[in-house]
Amino acid sequence: MERVRIFDTTLRDGEQSPGISLDVAEKLEIAEQLARLGVDVIEAGFPIASQGDFDAVEAIARSVRGPVITALSRTGLKDVDRAWEAVRDAQNPRIHVFIATSPIHMKKKLRMTEDQVKAEAASGVSRARGYTADVEFSPEDGSRSDVDFMCEVLQIAVDNGATTLNIPDTVGYGIPEEYAGLIRHILDTVNGDYVVSTHCHNDLGLAVANSLAAVAAGARQVECAINGLGERAGNAALEEIVMAIHTRGDYFVERSGVRLETGVRTEELARTSRIVSRLTGYPVQYNKAVVGRNAFAHESGIHQHGVLADRETYEIMDANIVGQEAAQIVLGKHSGRHAFSDSLAKMGIRIQGDALNQAFTRFKELADRKVQITEADLEAIVAEELGTGVVHRYDMVSLDLNGGTSSTPTARVVLSDGSGKVEASGEGNGMIDAAIAAIAAATDVRGTLLDFNVSSVTGGGDALGDVVVQLQADGHKVSGRGVSTDVVEASARAYLNAVNKIVRLRENPVVRDVEVGP
Ligand code: KIV
Ligand code: ZN
Repeated sequence: MERVRIFDTTLRDGEQSPGISLDVAEKLEIAEQLARLGVDVIEAGFPIASQGDFDAVEAIARSVRGPVITALSRTGLKDVDRAWEAVRDAQNPRIHVFIATSPIHMKKKLRMTEDQVKAEAASGVSRARGYTADVEFSPEDGSRSDVDFMCEVLQIAVDNGATTLNIPDTVGYGIPEEYAGLIRHILDTVNGDYVVSTHCHNDLGLAVANSLAAVAAGARQVECAINGLGERAGNAALEEIVMAIHTRGDYFVERSGVRLETGVRTEELARTSRIVSRLTGYPVQYNKAVVGRNAFAHESGIHQHGVLADRETYEIMDANIVGQEAAQIVLGKHSGRHAFSDSLAKMGIRIQGDALNQAFTRFKELADRKVQITEADLEAIVAEELGTGVVHRYDMVSLDLNGGTSSTPTARVVLSDGSGKVEASGEGNGMIDAAIAAIAAATDVRGTLLDFNVSSVTGGGDALGDVVVQLQADGHKVSGRGVSTDVVEASARAYLNAVNKIVRLRENPVVRDVEVGP
C-alpha cells in the first residue's frame, strides 16, 4: 500500500477565485474541517500578499492540528522569511517556494535569464531549508517549460534541500498522457530523495484526468481544492481525486503495481463541500461529481428500477461513503437547546454562549415554519446567522413587503445595529429588488449586485431557500448567503450578509500588496 498525499489548496489557490474573499475566522473554519476530513497538507495562504493572509496562515498554524500547514512564498528572501514567520508555530510546518521556469513567464513576467532563475531557486529553497526540513518547490508554468531547463532547476532545488517537487500545469495546458510522461521523465532524471507532486488547473477540463495520470506515473502528492475552486476554471477537485483513487484501486494496481490509498475520511466529503460552498459563496453545480446534490439521484424509470433491484446497476459509489446521506432529519420544532447543541457538536461545530443562543433562536424561528430540520439545514442556519463567529454589524429585525405585479413593490426593513434600530424603505422592480433597496438605504452601503443564485438546501416543498449573492461595493467584491423558508427573505438576508462584510472591510481594510502567482 502506498500513500498518495492530498495537499489541499482551497485556502490559497481556491481563494484566488474571482469574488472569493475569506476572513480569518472563515479560513479557520475551513481549515478545521479540512483537518477533520484528513487531508495531509493544508496550504493556508500566501503570507507576503497581505496582512490578512498572514494573520490567517498564522492562526491556522497555531490552532489546527494534524495536517502539515504550508505557506506559499516566492523565492525572495523577505517572502520566505514572512512565510516562515506565519507557519513556524504549526505542529508540522512547510514552506512552499515557487518561481516560474517557462520562457514566456521568465521573459515577460519575471524579466530574468535562465541563470537568474536558477540562482533564485537555489537561494529561496536554501533559505527555507534553514528554517524547516519540509520544503516544497514549484517551477511555475512547468508544463510549458523547456523540460531540460526545468529539470536542471528541480535538481538545484533538491540539492538545496527541497523534499517535494511540485509540477504545476499552471494554465491547464497539459493532456493526461503528456503530463504523465513529464512526471516520469522528472522521476528518471532528477536525483535525490523527494516526492513528486501534481498541481493541475482546469482550463481544458482535464485537471483531474491529468492529476490521476501523474499518479499512475509515480506522483505521490496531489494538489487540489474542494469543489475544484481555484484561479480561472479552477484546480483539480479534491473530492474527485480522492474518490477515483478509492473506487478505481484496481486500475492503479494494474498501472503502477501498487495499491494506493489516501488518508481522507471520505464520509466528510459532502459536508466539506457544503461548508466551502457556503463560506465562499460559490454554489456547487447540481450534477457535480461526488458532491453535487444529483450525484446519486436517479431520474429515469429504468435506472430507478435497476437501482431498486441492485444499487450497483447504476452506482459505482455508495452515497454514504461520501457523506451524501448525512442530510437526514435531525431536529424538529420541539427540539430543545441541548439537542440543538448536541447535533452541532456531532457535526463538528462548536459554538457556545451568545453565539449558541443566537443560532438557537434562529433555529426555532425556522423550525416553526419548516417541520423537519436536516443536518444540511442546520449548517446553513449556523453559517448564515453567525457568519463564523464574527459579530455582524446589522441584524435583520423585520422585513415587510407590499405590492406585486399590478403596483410597484415596496419594502420596509428594520435592522438592529448593536446600539439601536435603523429602518428604511425602498422600492424596486420586484420584491427582492425592493428589499435590497431598503437595506441599502438603511445601511448606506450602495453596491452593484453582480450575481444572484437561489437553490434549496434539501428537497421537498418546505425546503429552505438558500440564496447566494455577490456584491461589489467600495472596490470590494464579496459574497453573502441567506436561508429562509421564504425566498425573498432569504435574498434579503443574503444581501445583508454581504453588506456586513463590506462594513467589516471598511473598518478593517485588507490590502493585497503583491500579485499572487496563478
Ligand atoms: O498554478 C500554479 O502554478 C500555482 C503555483 C504557485 C504552485 O498555483
Ligand atoms: Zn495554481
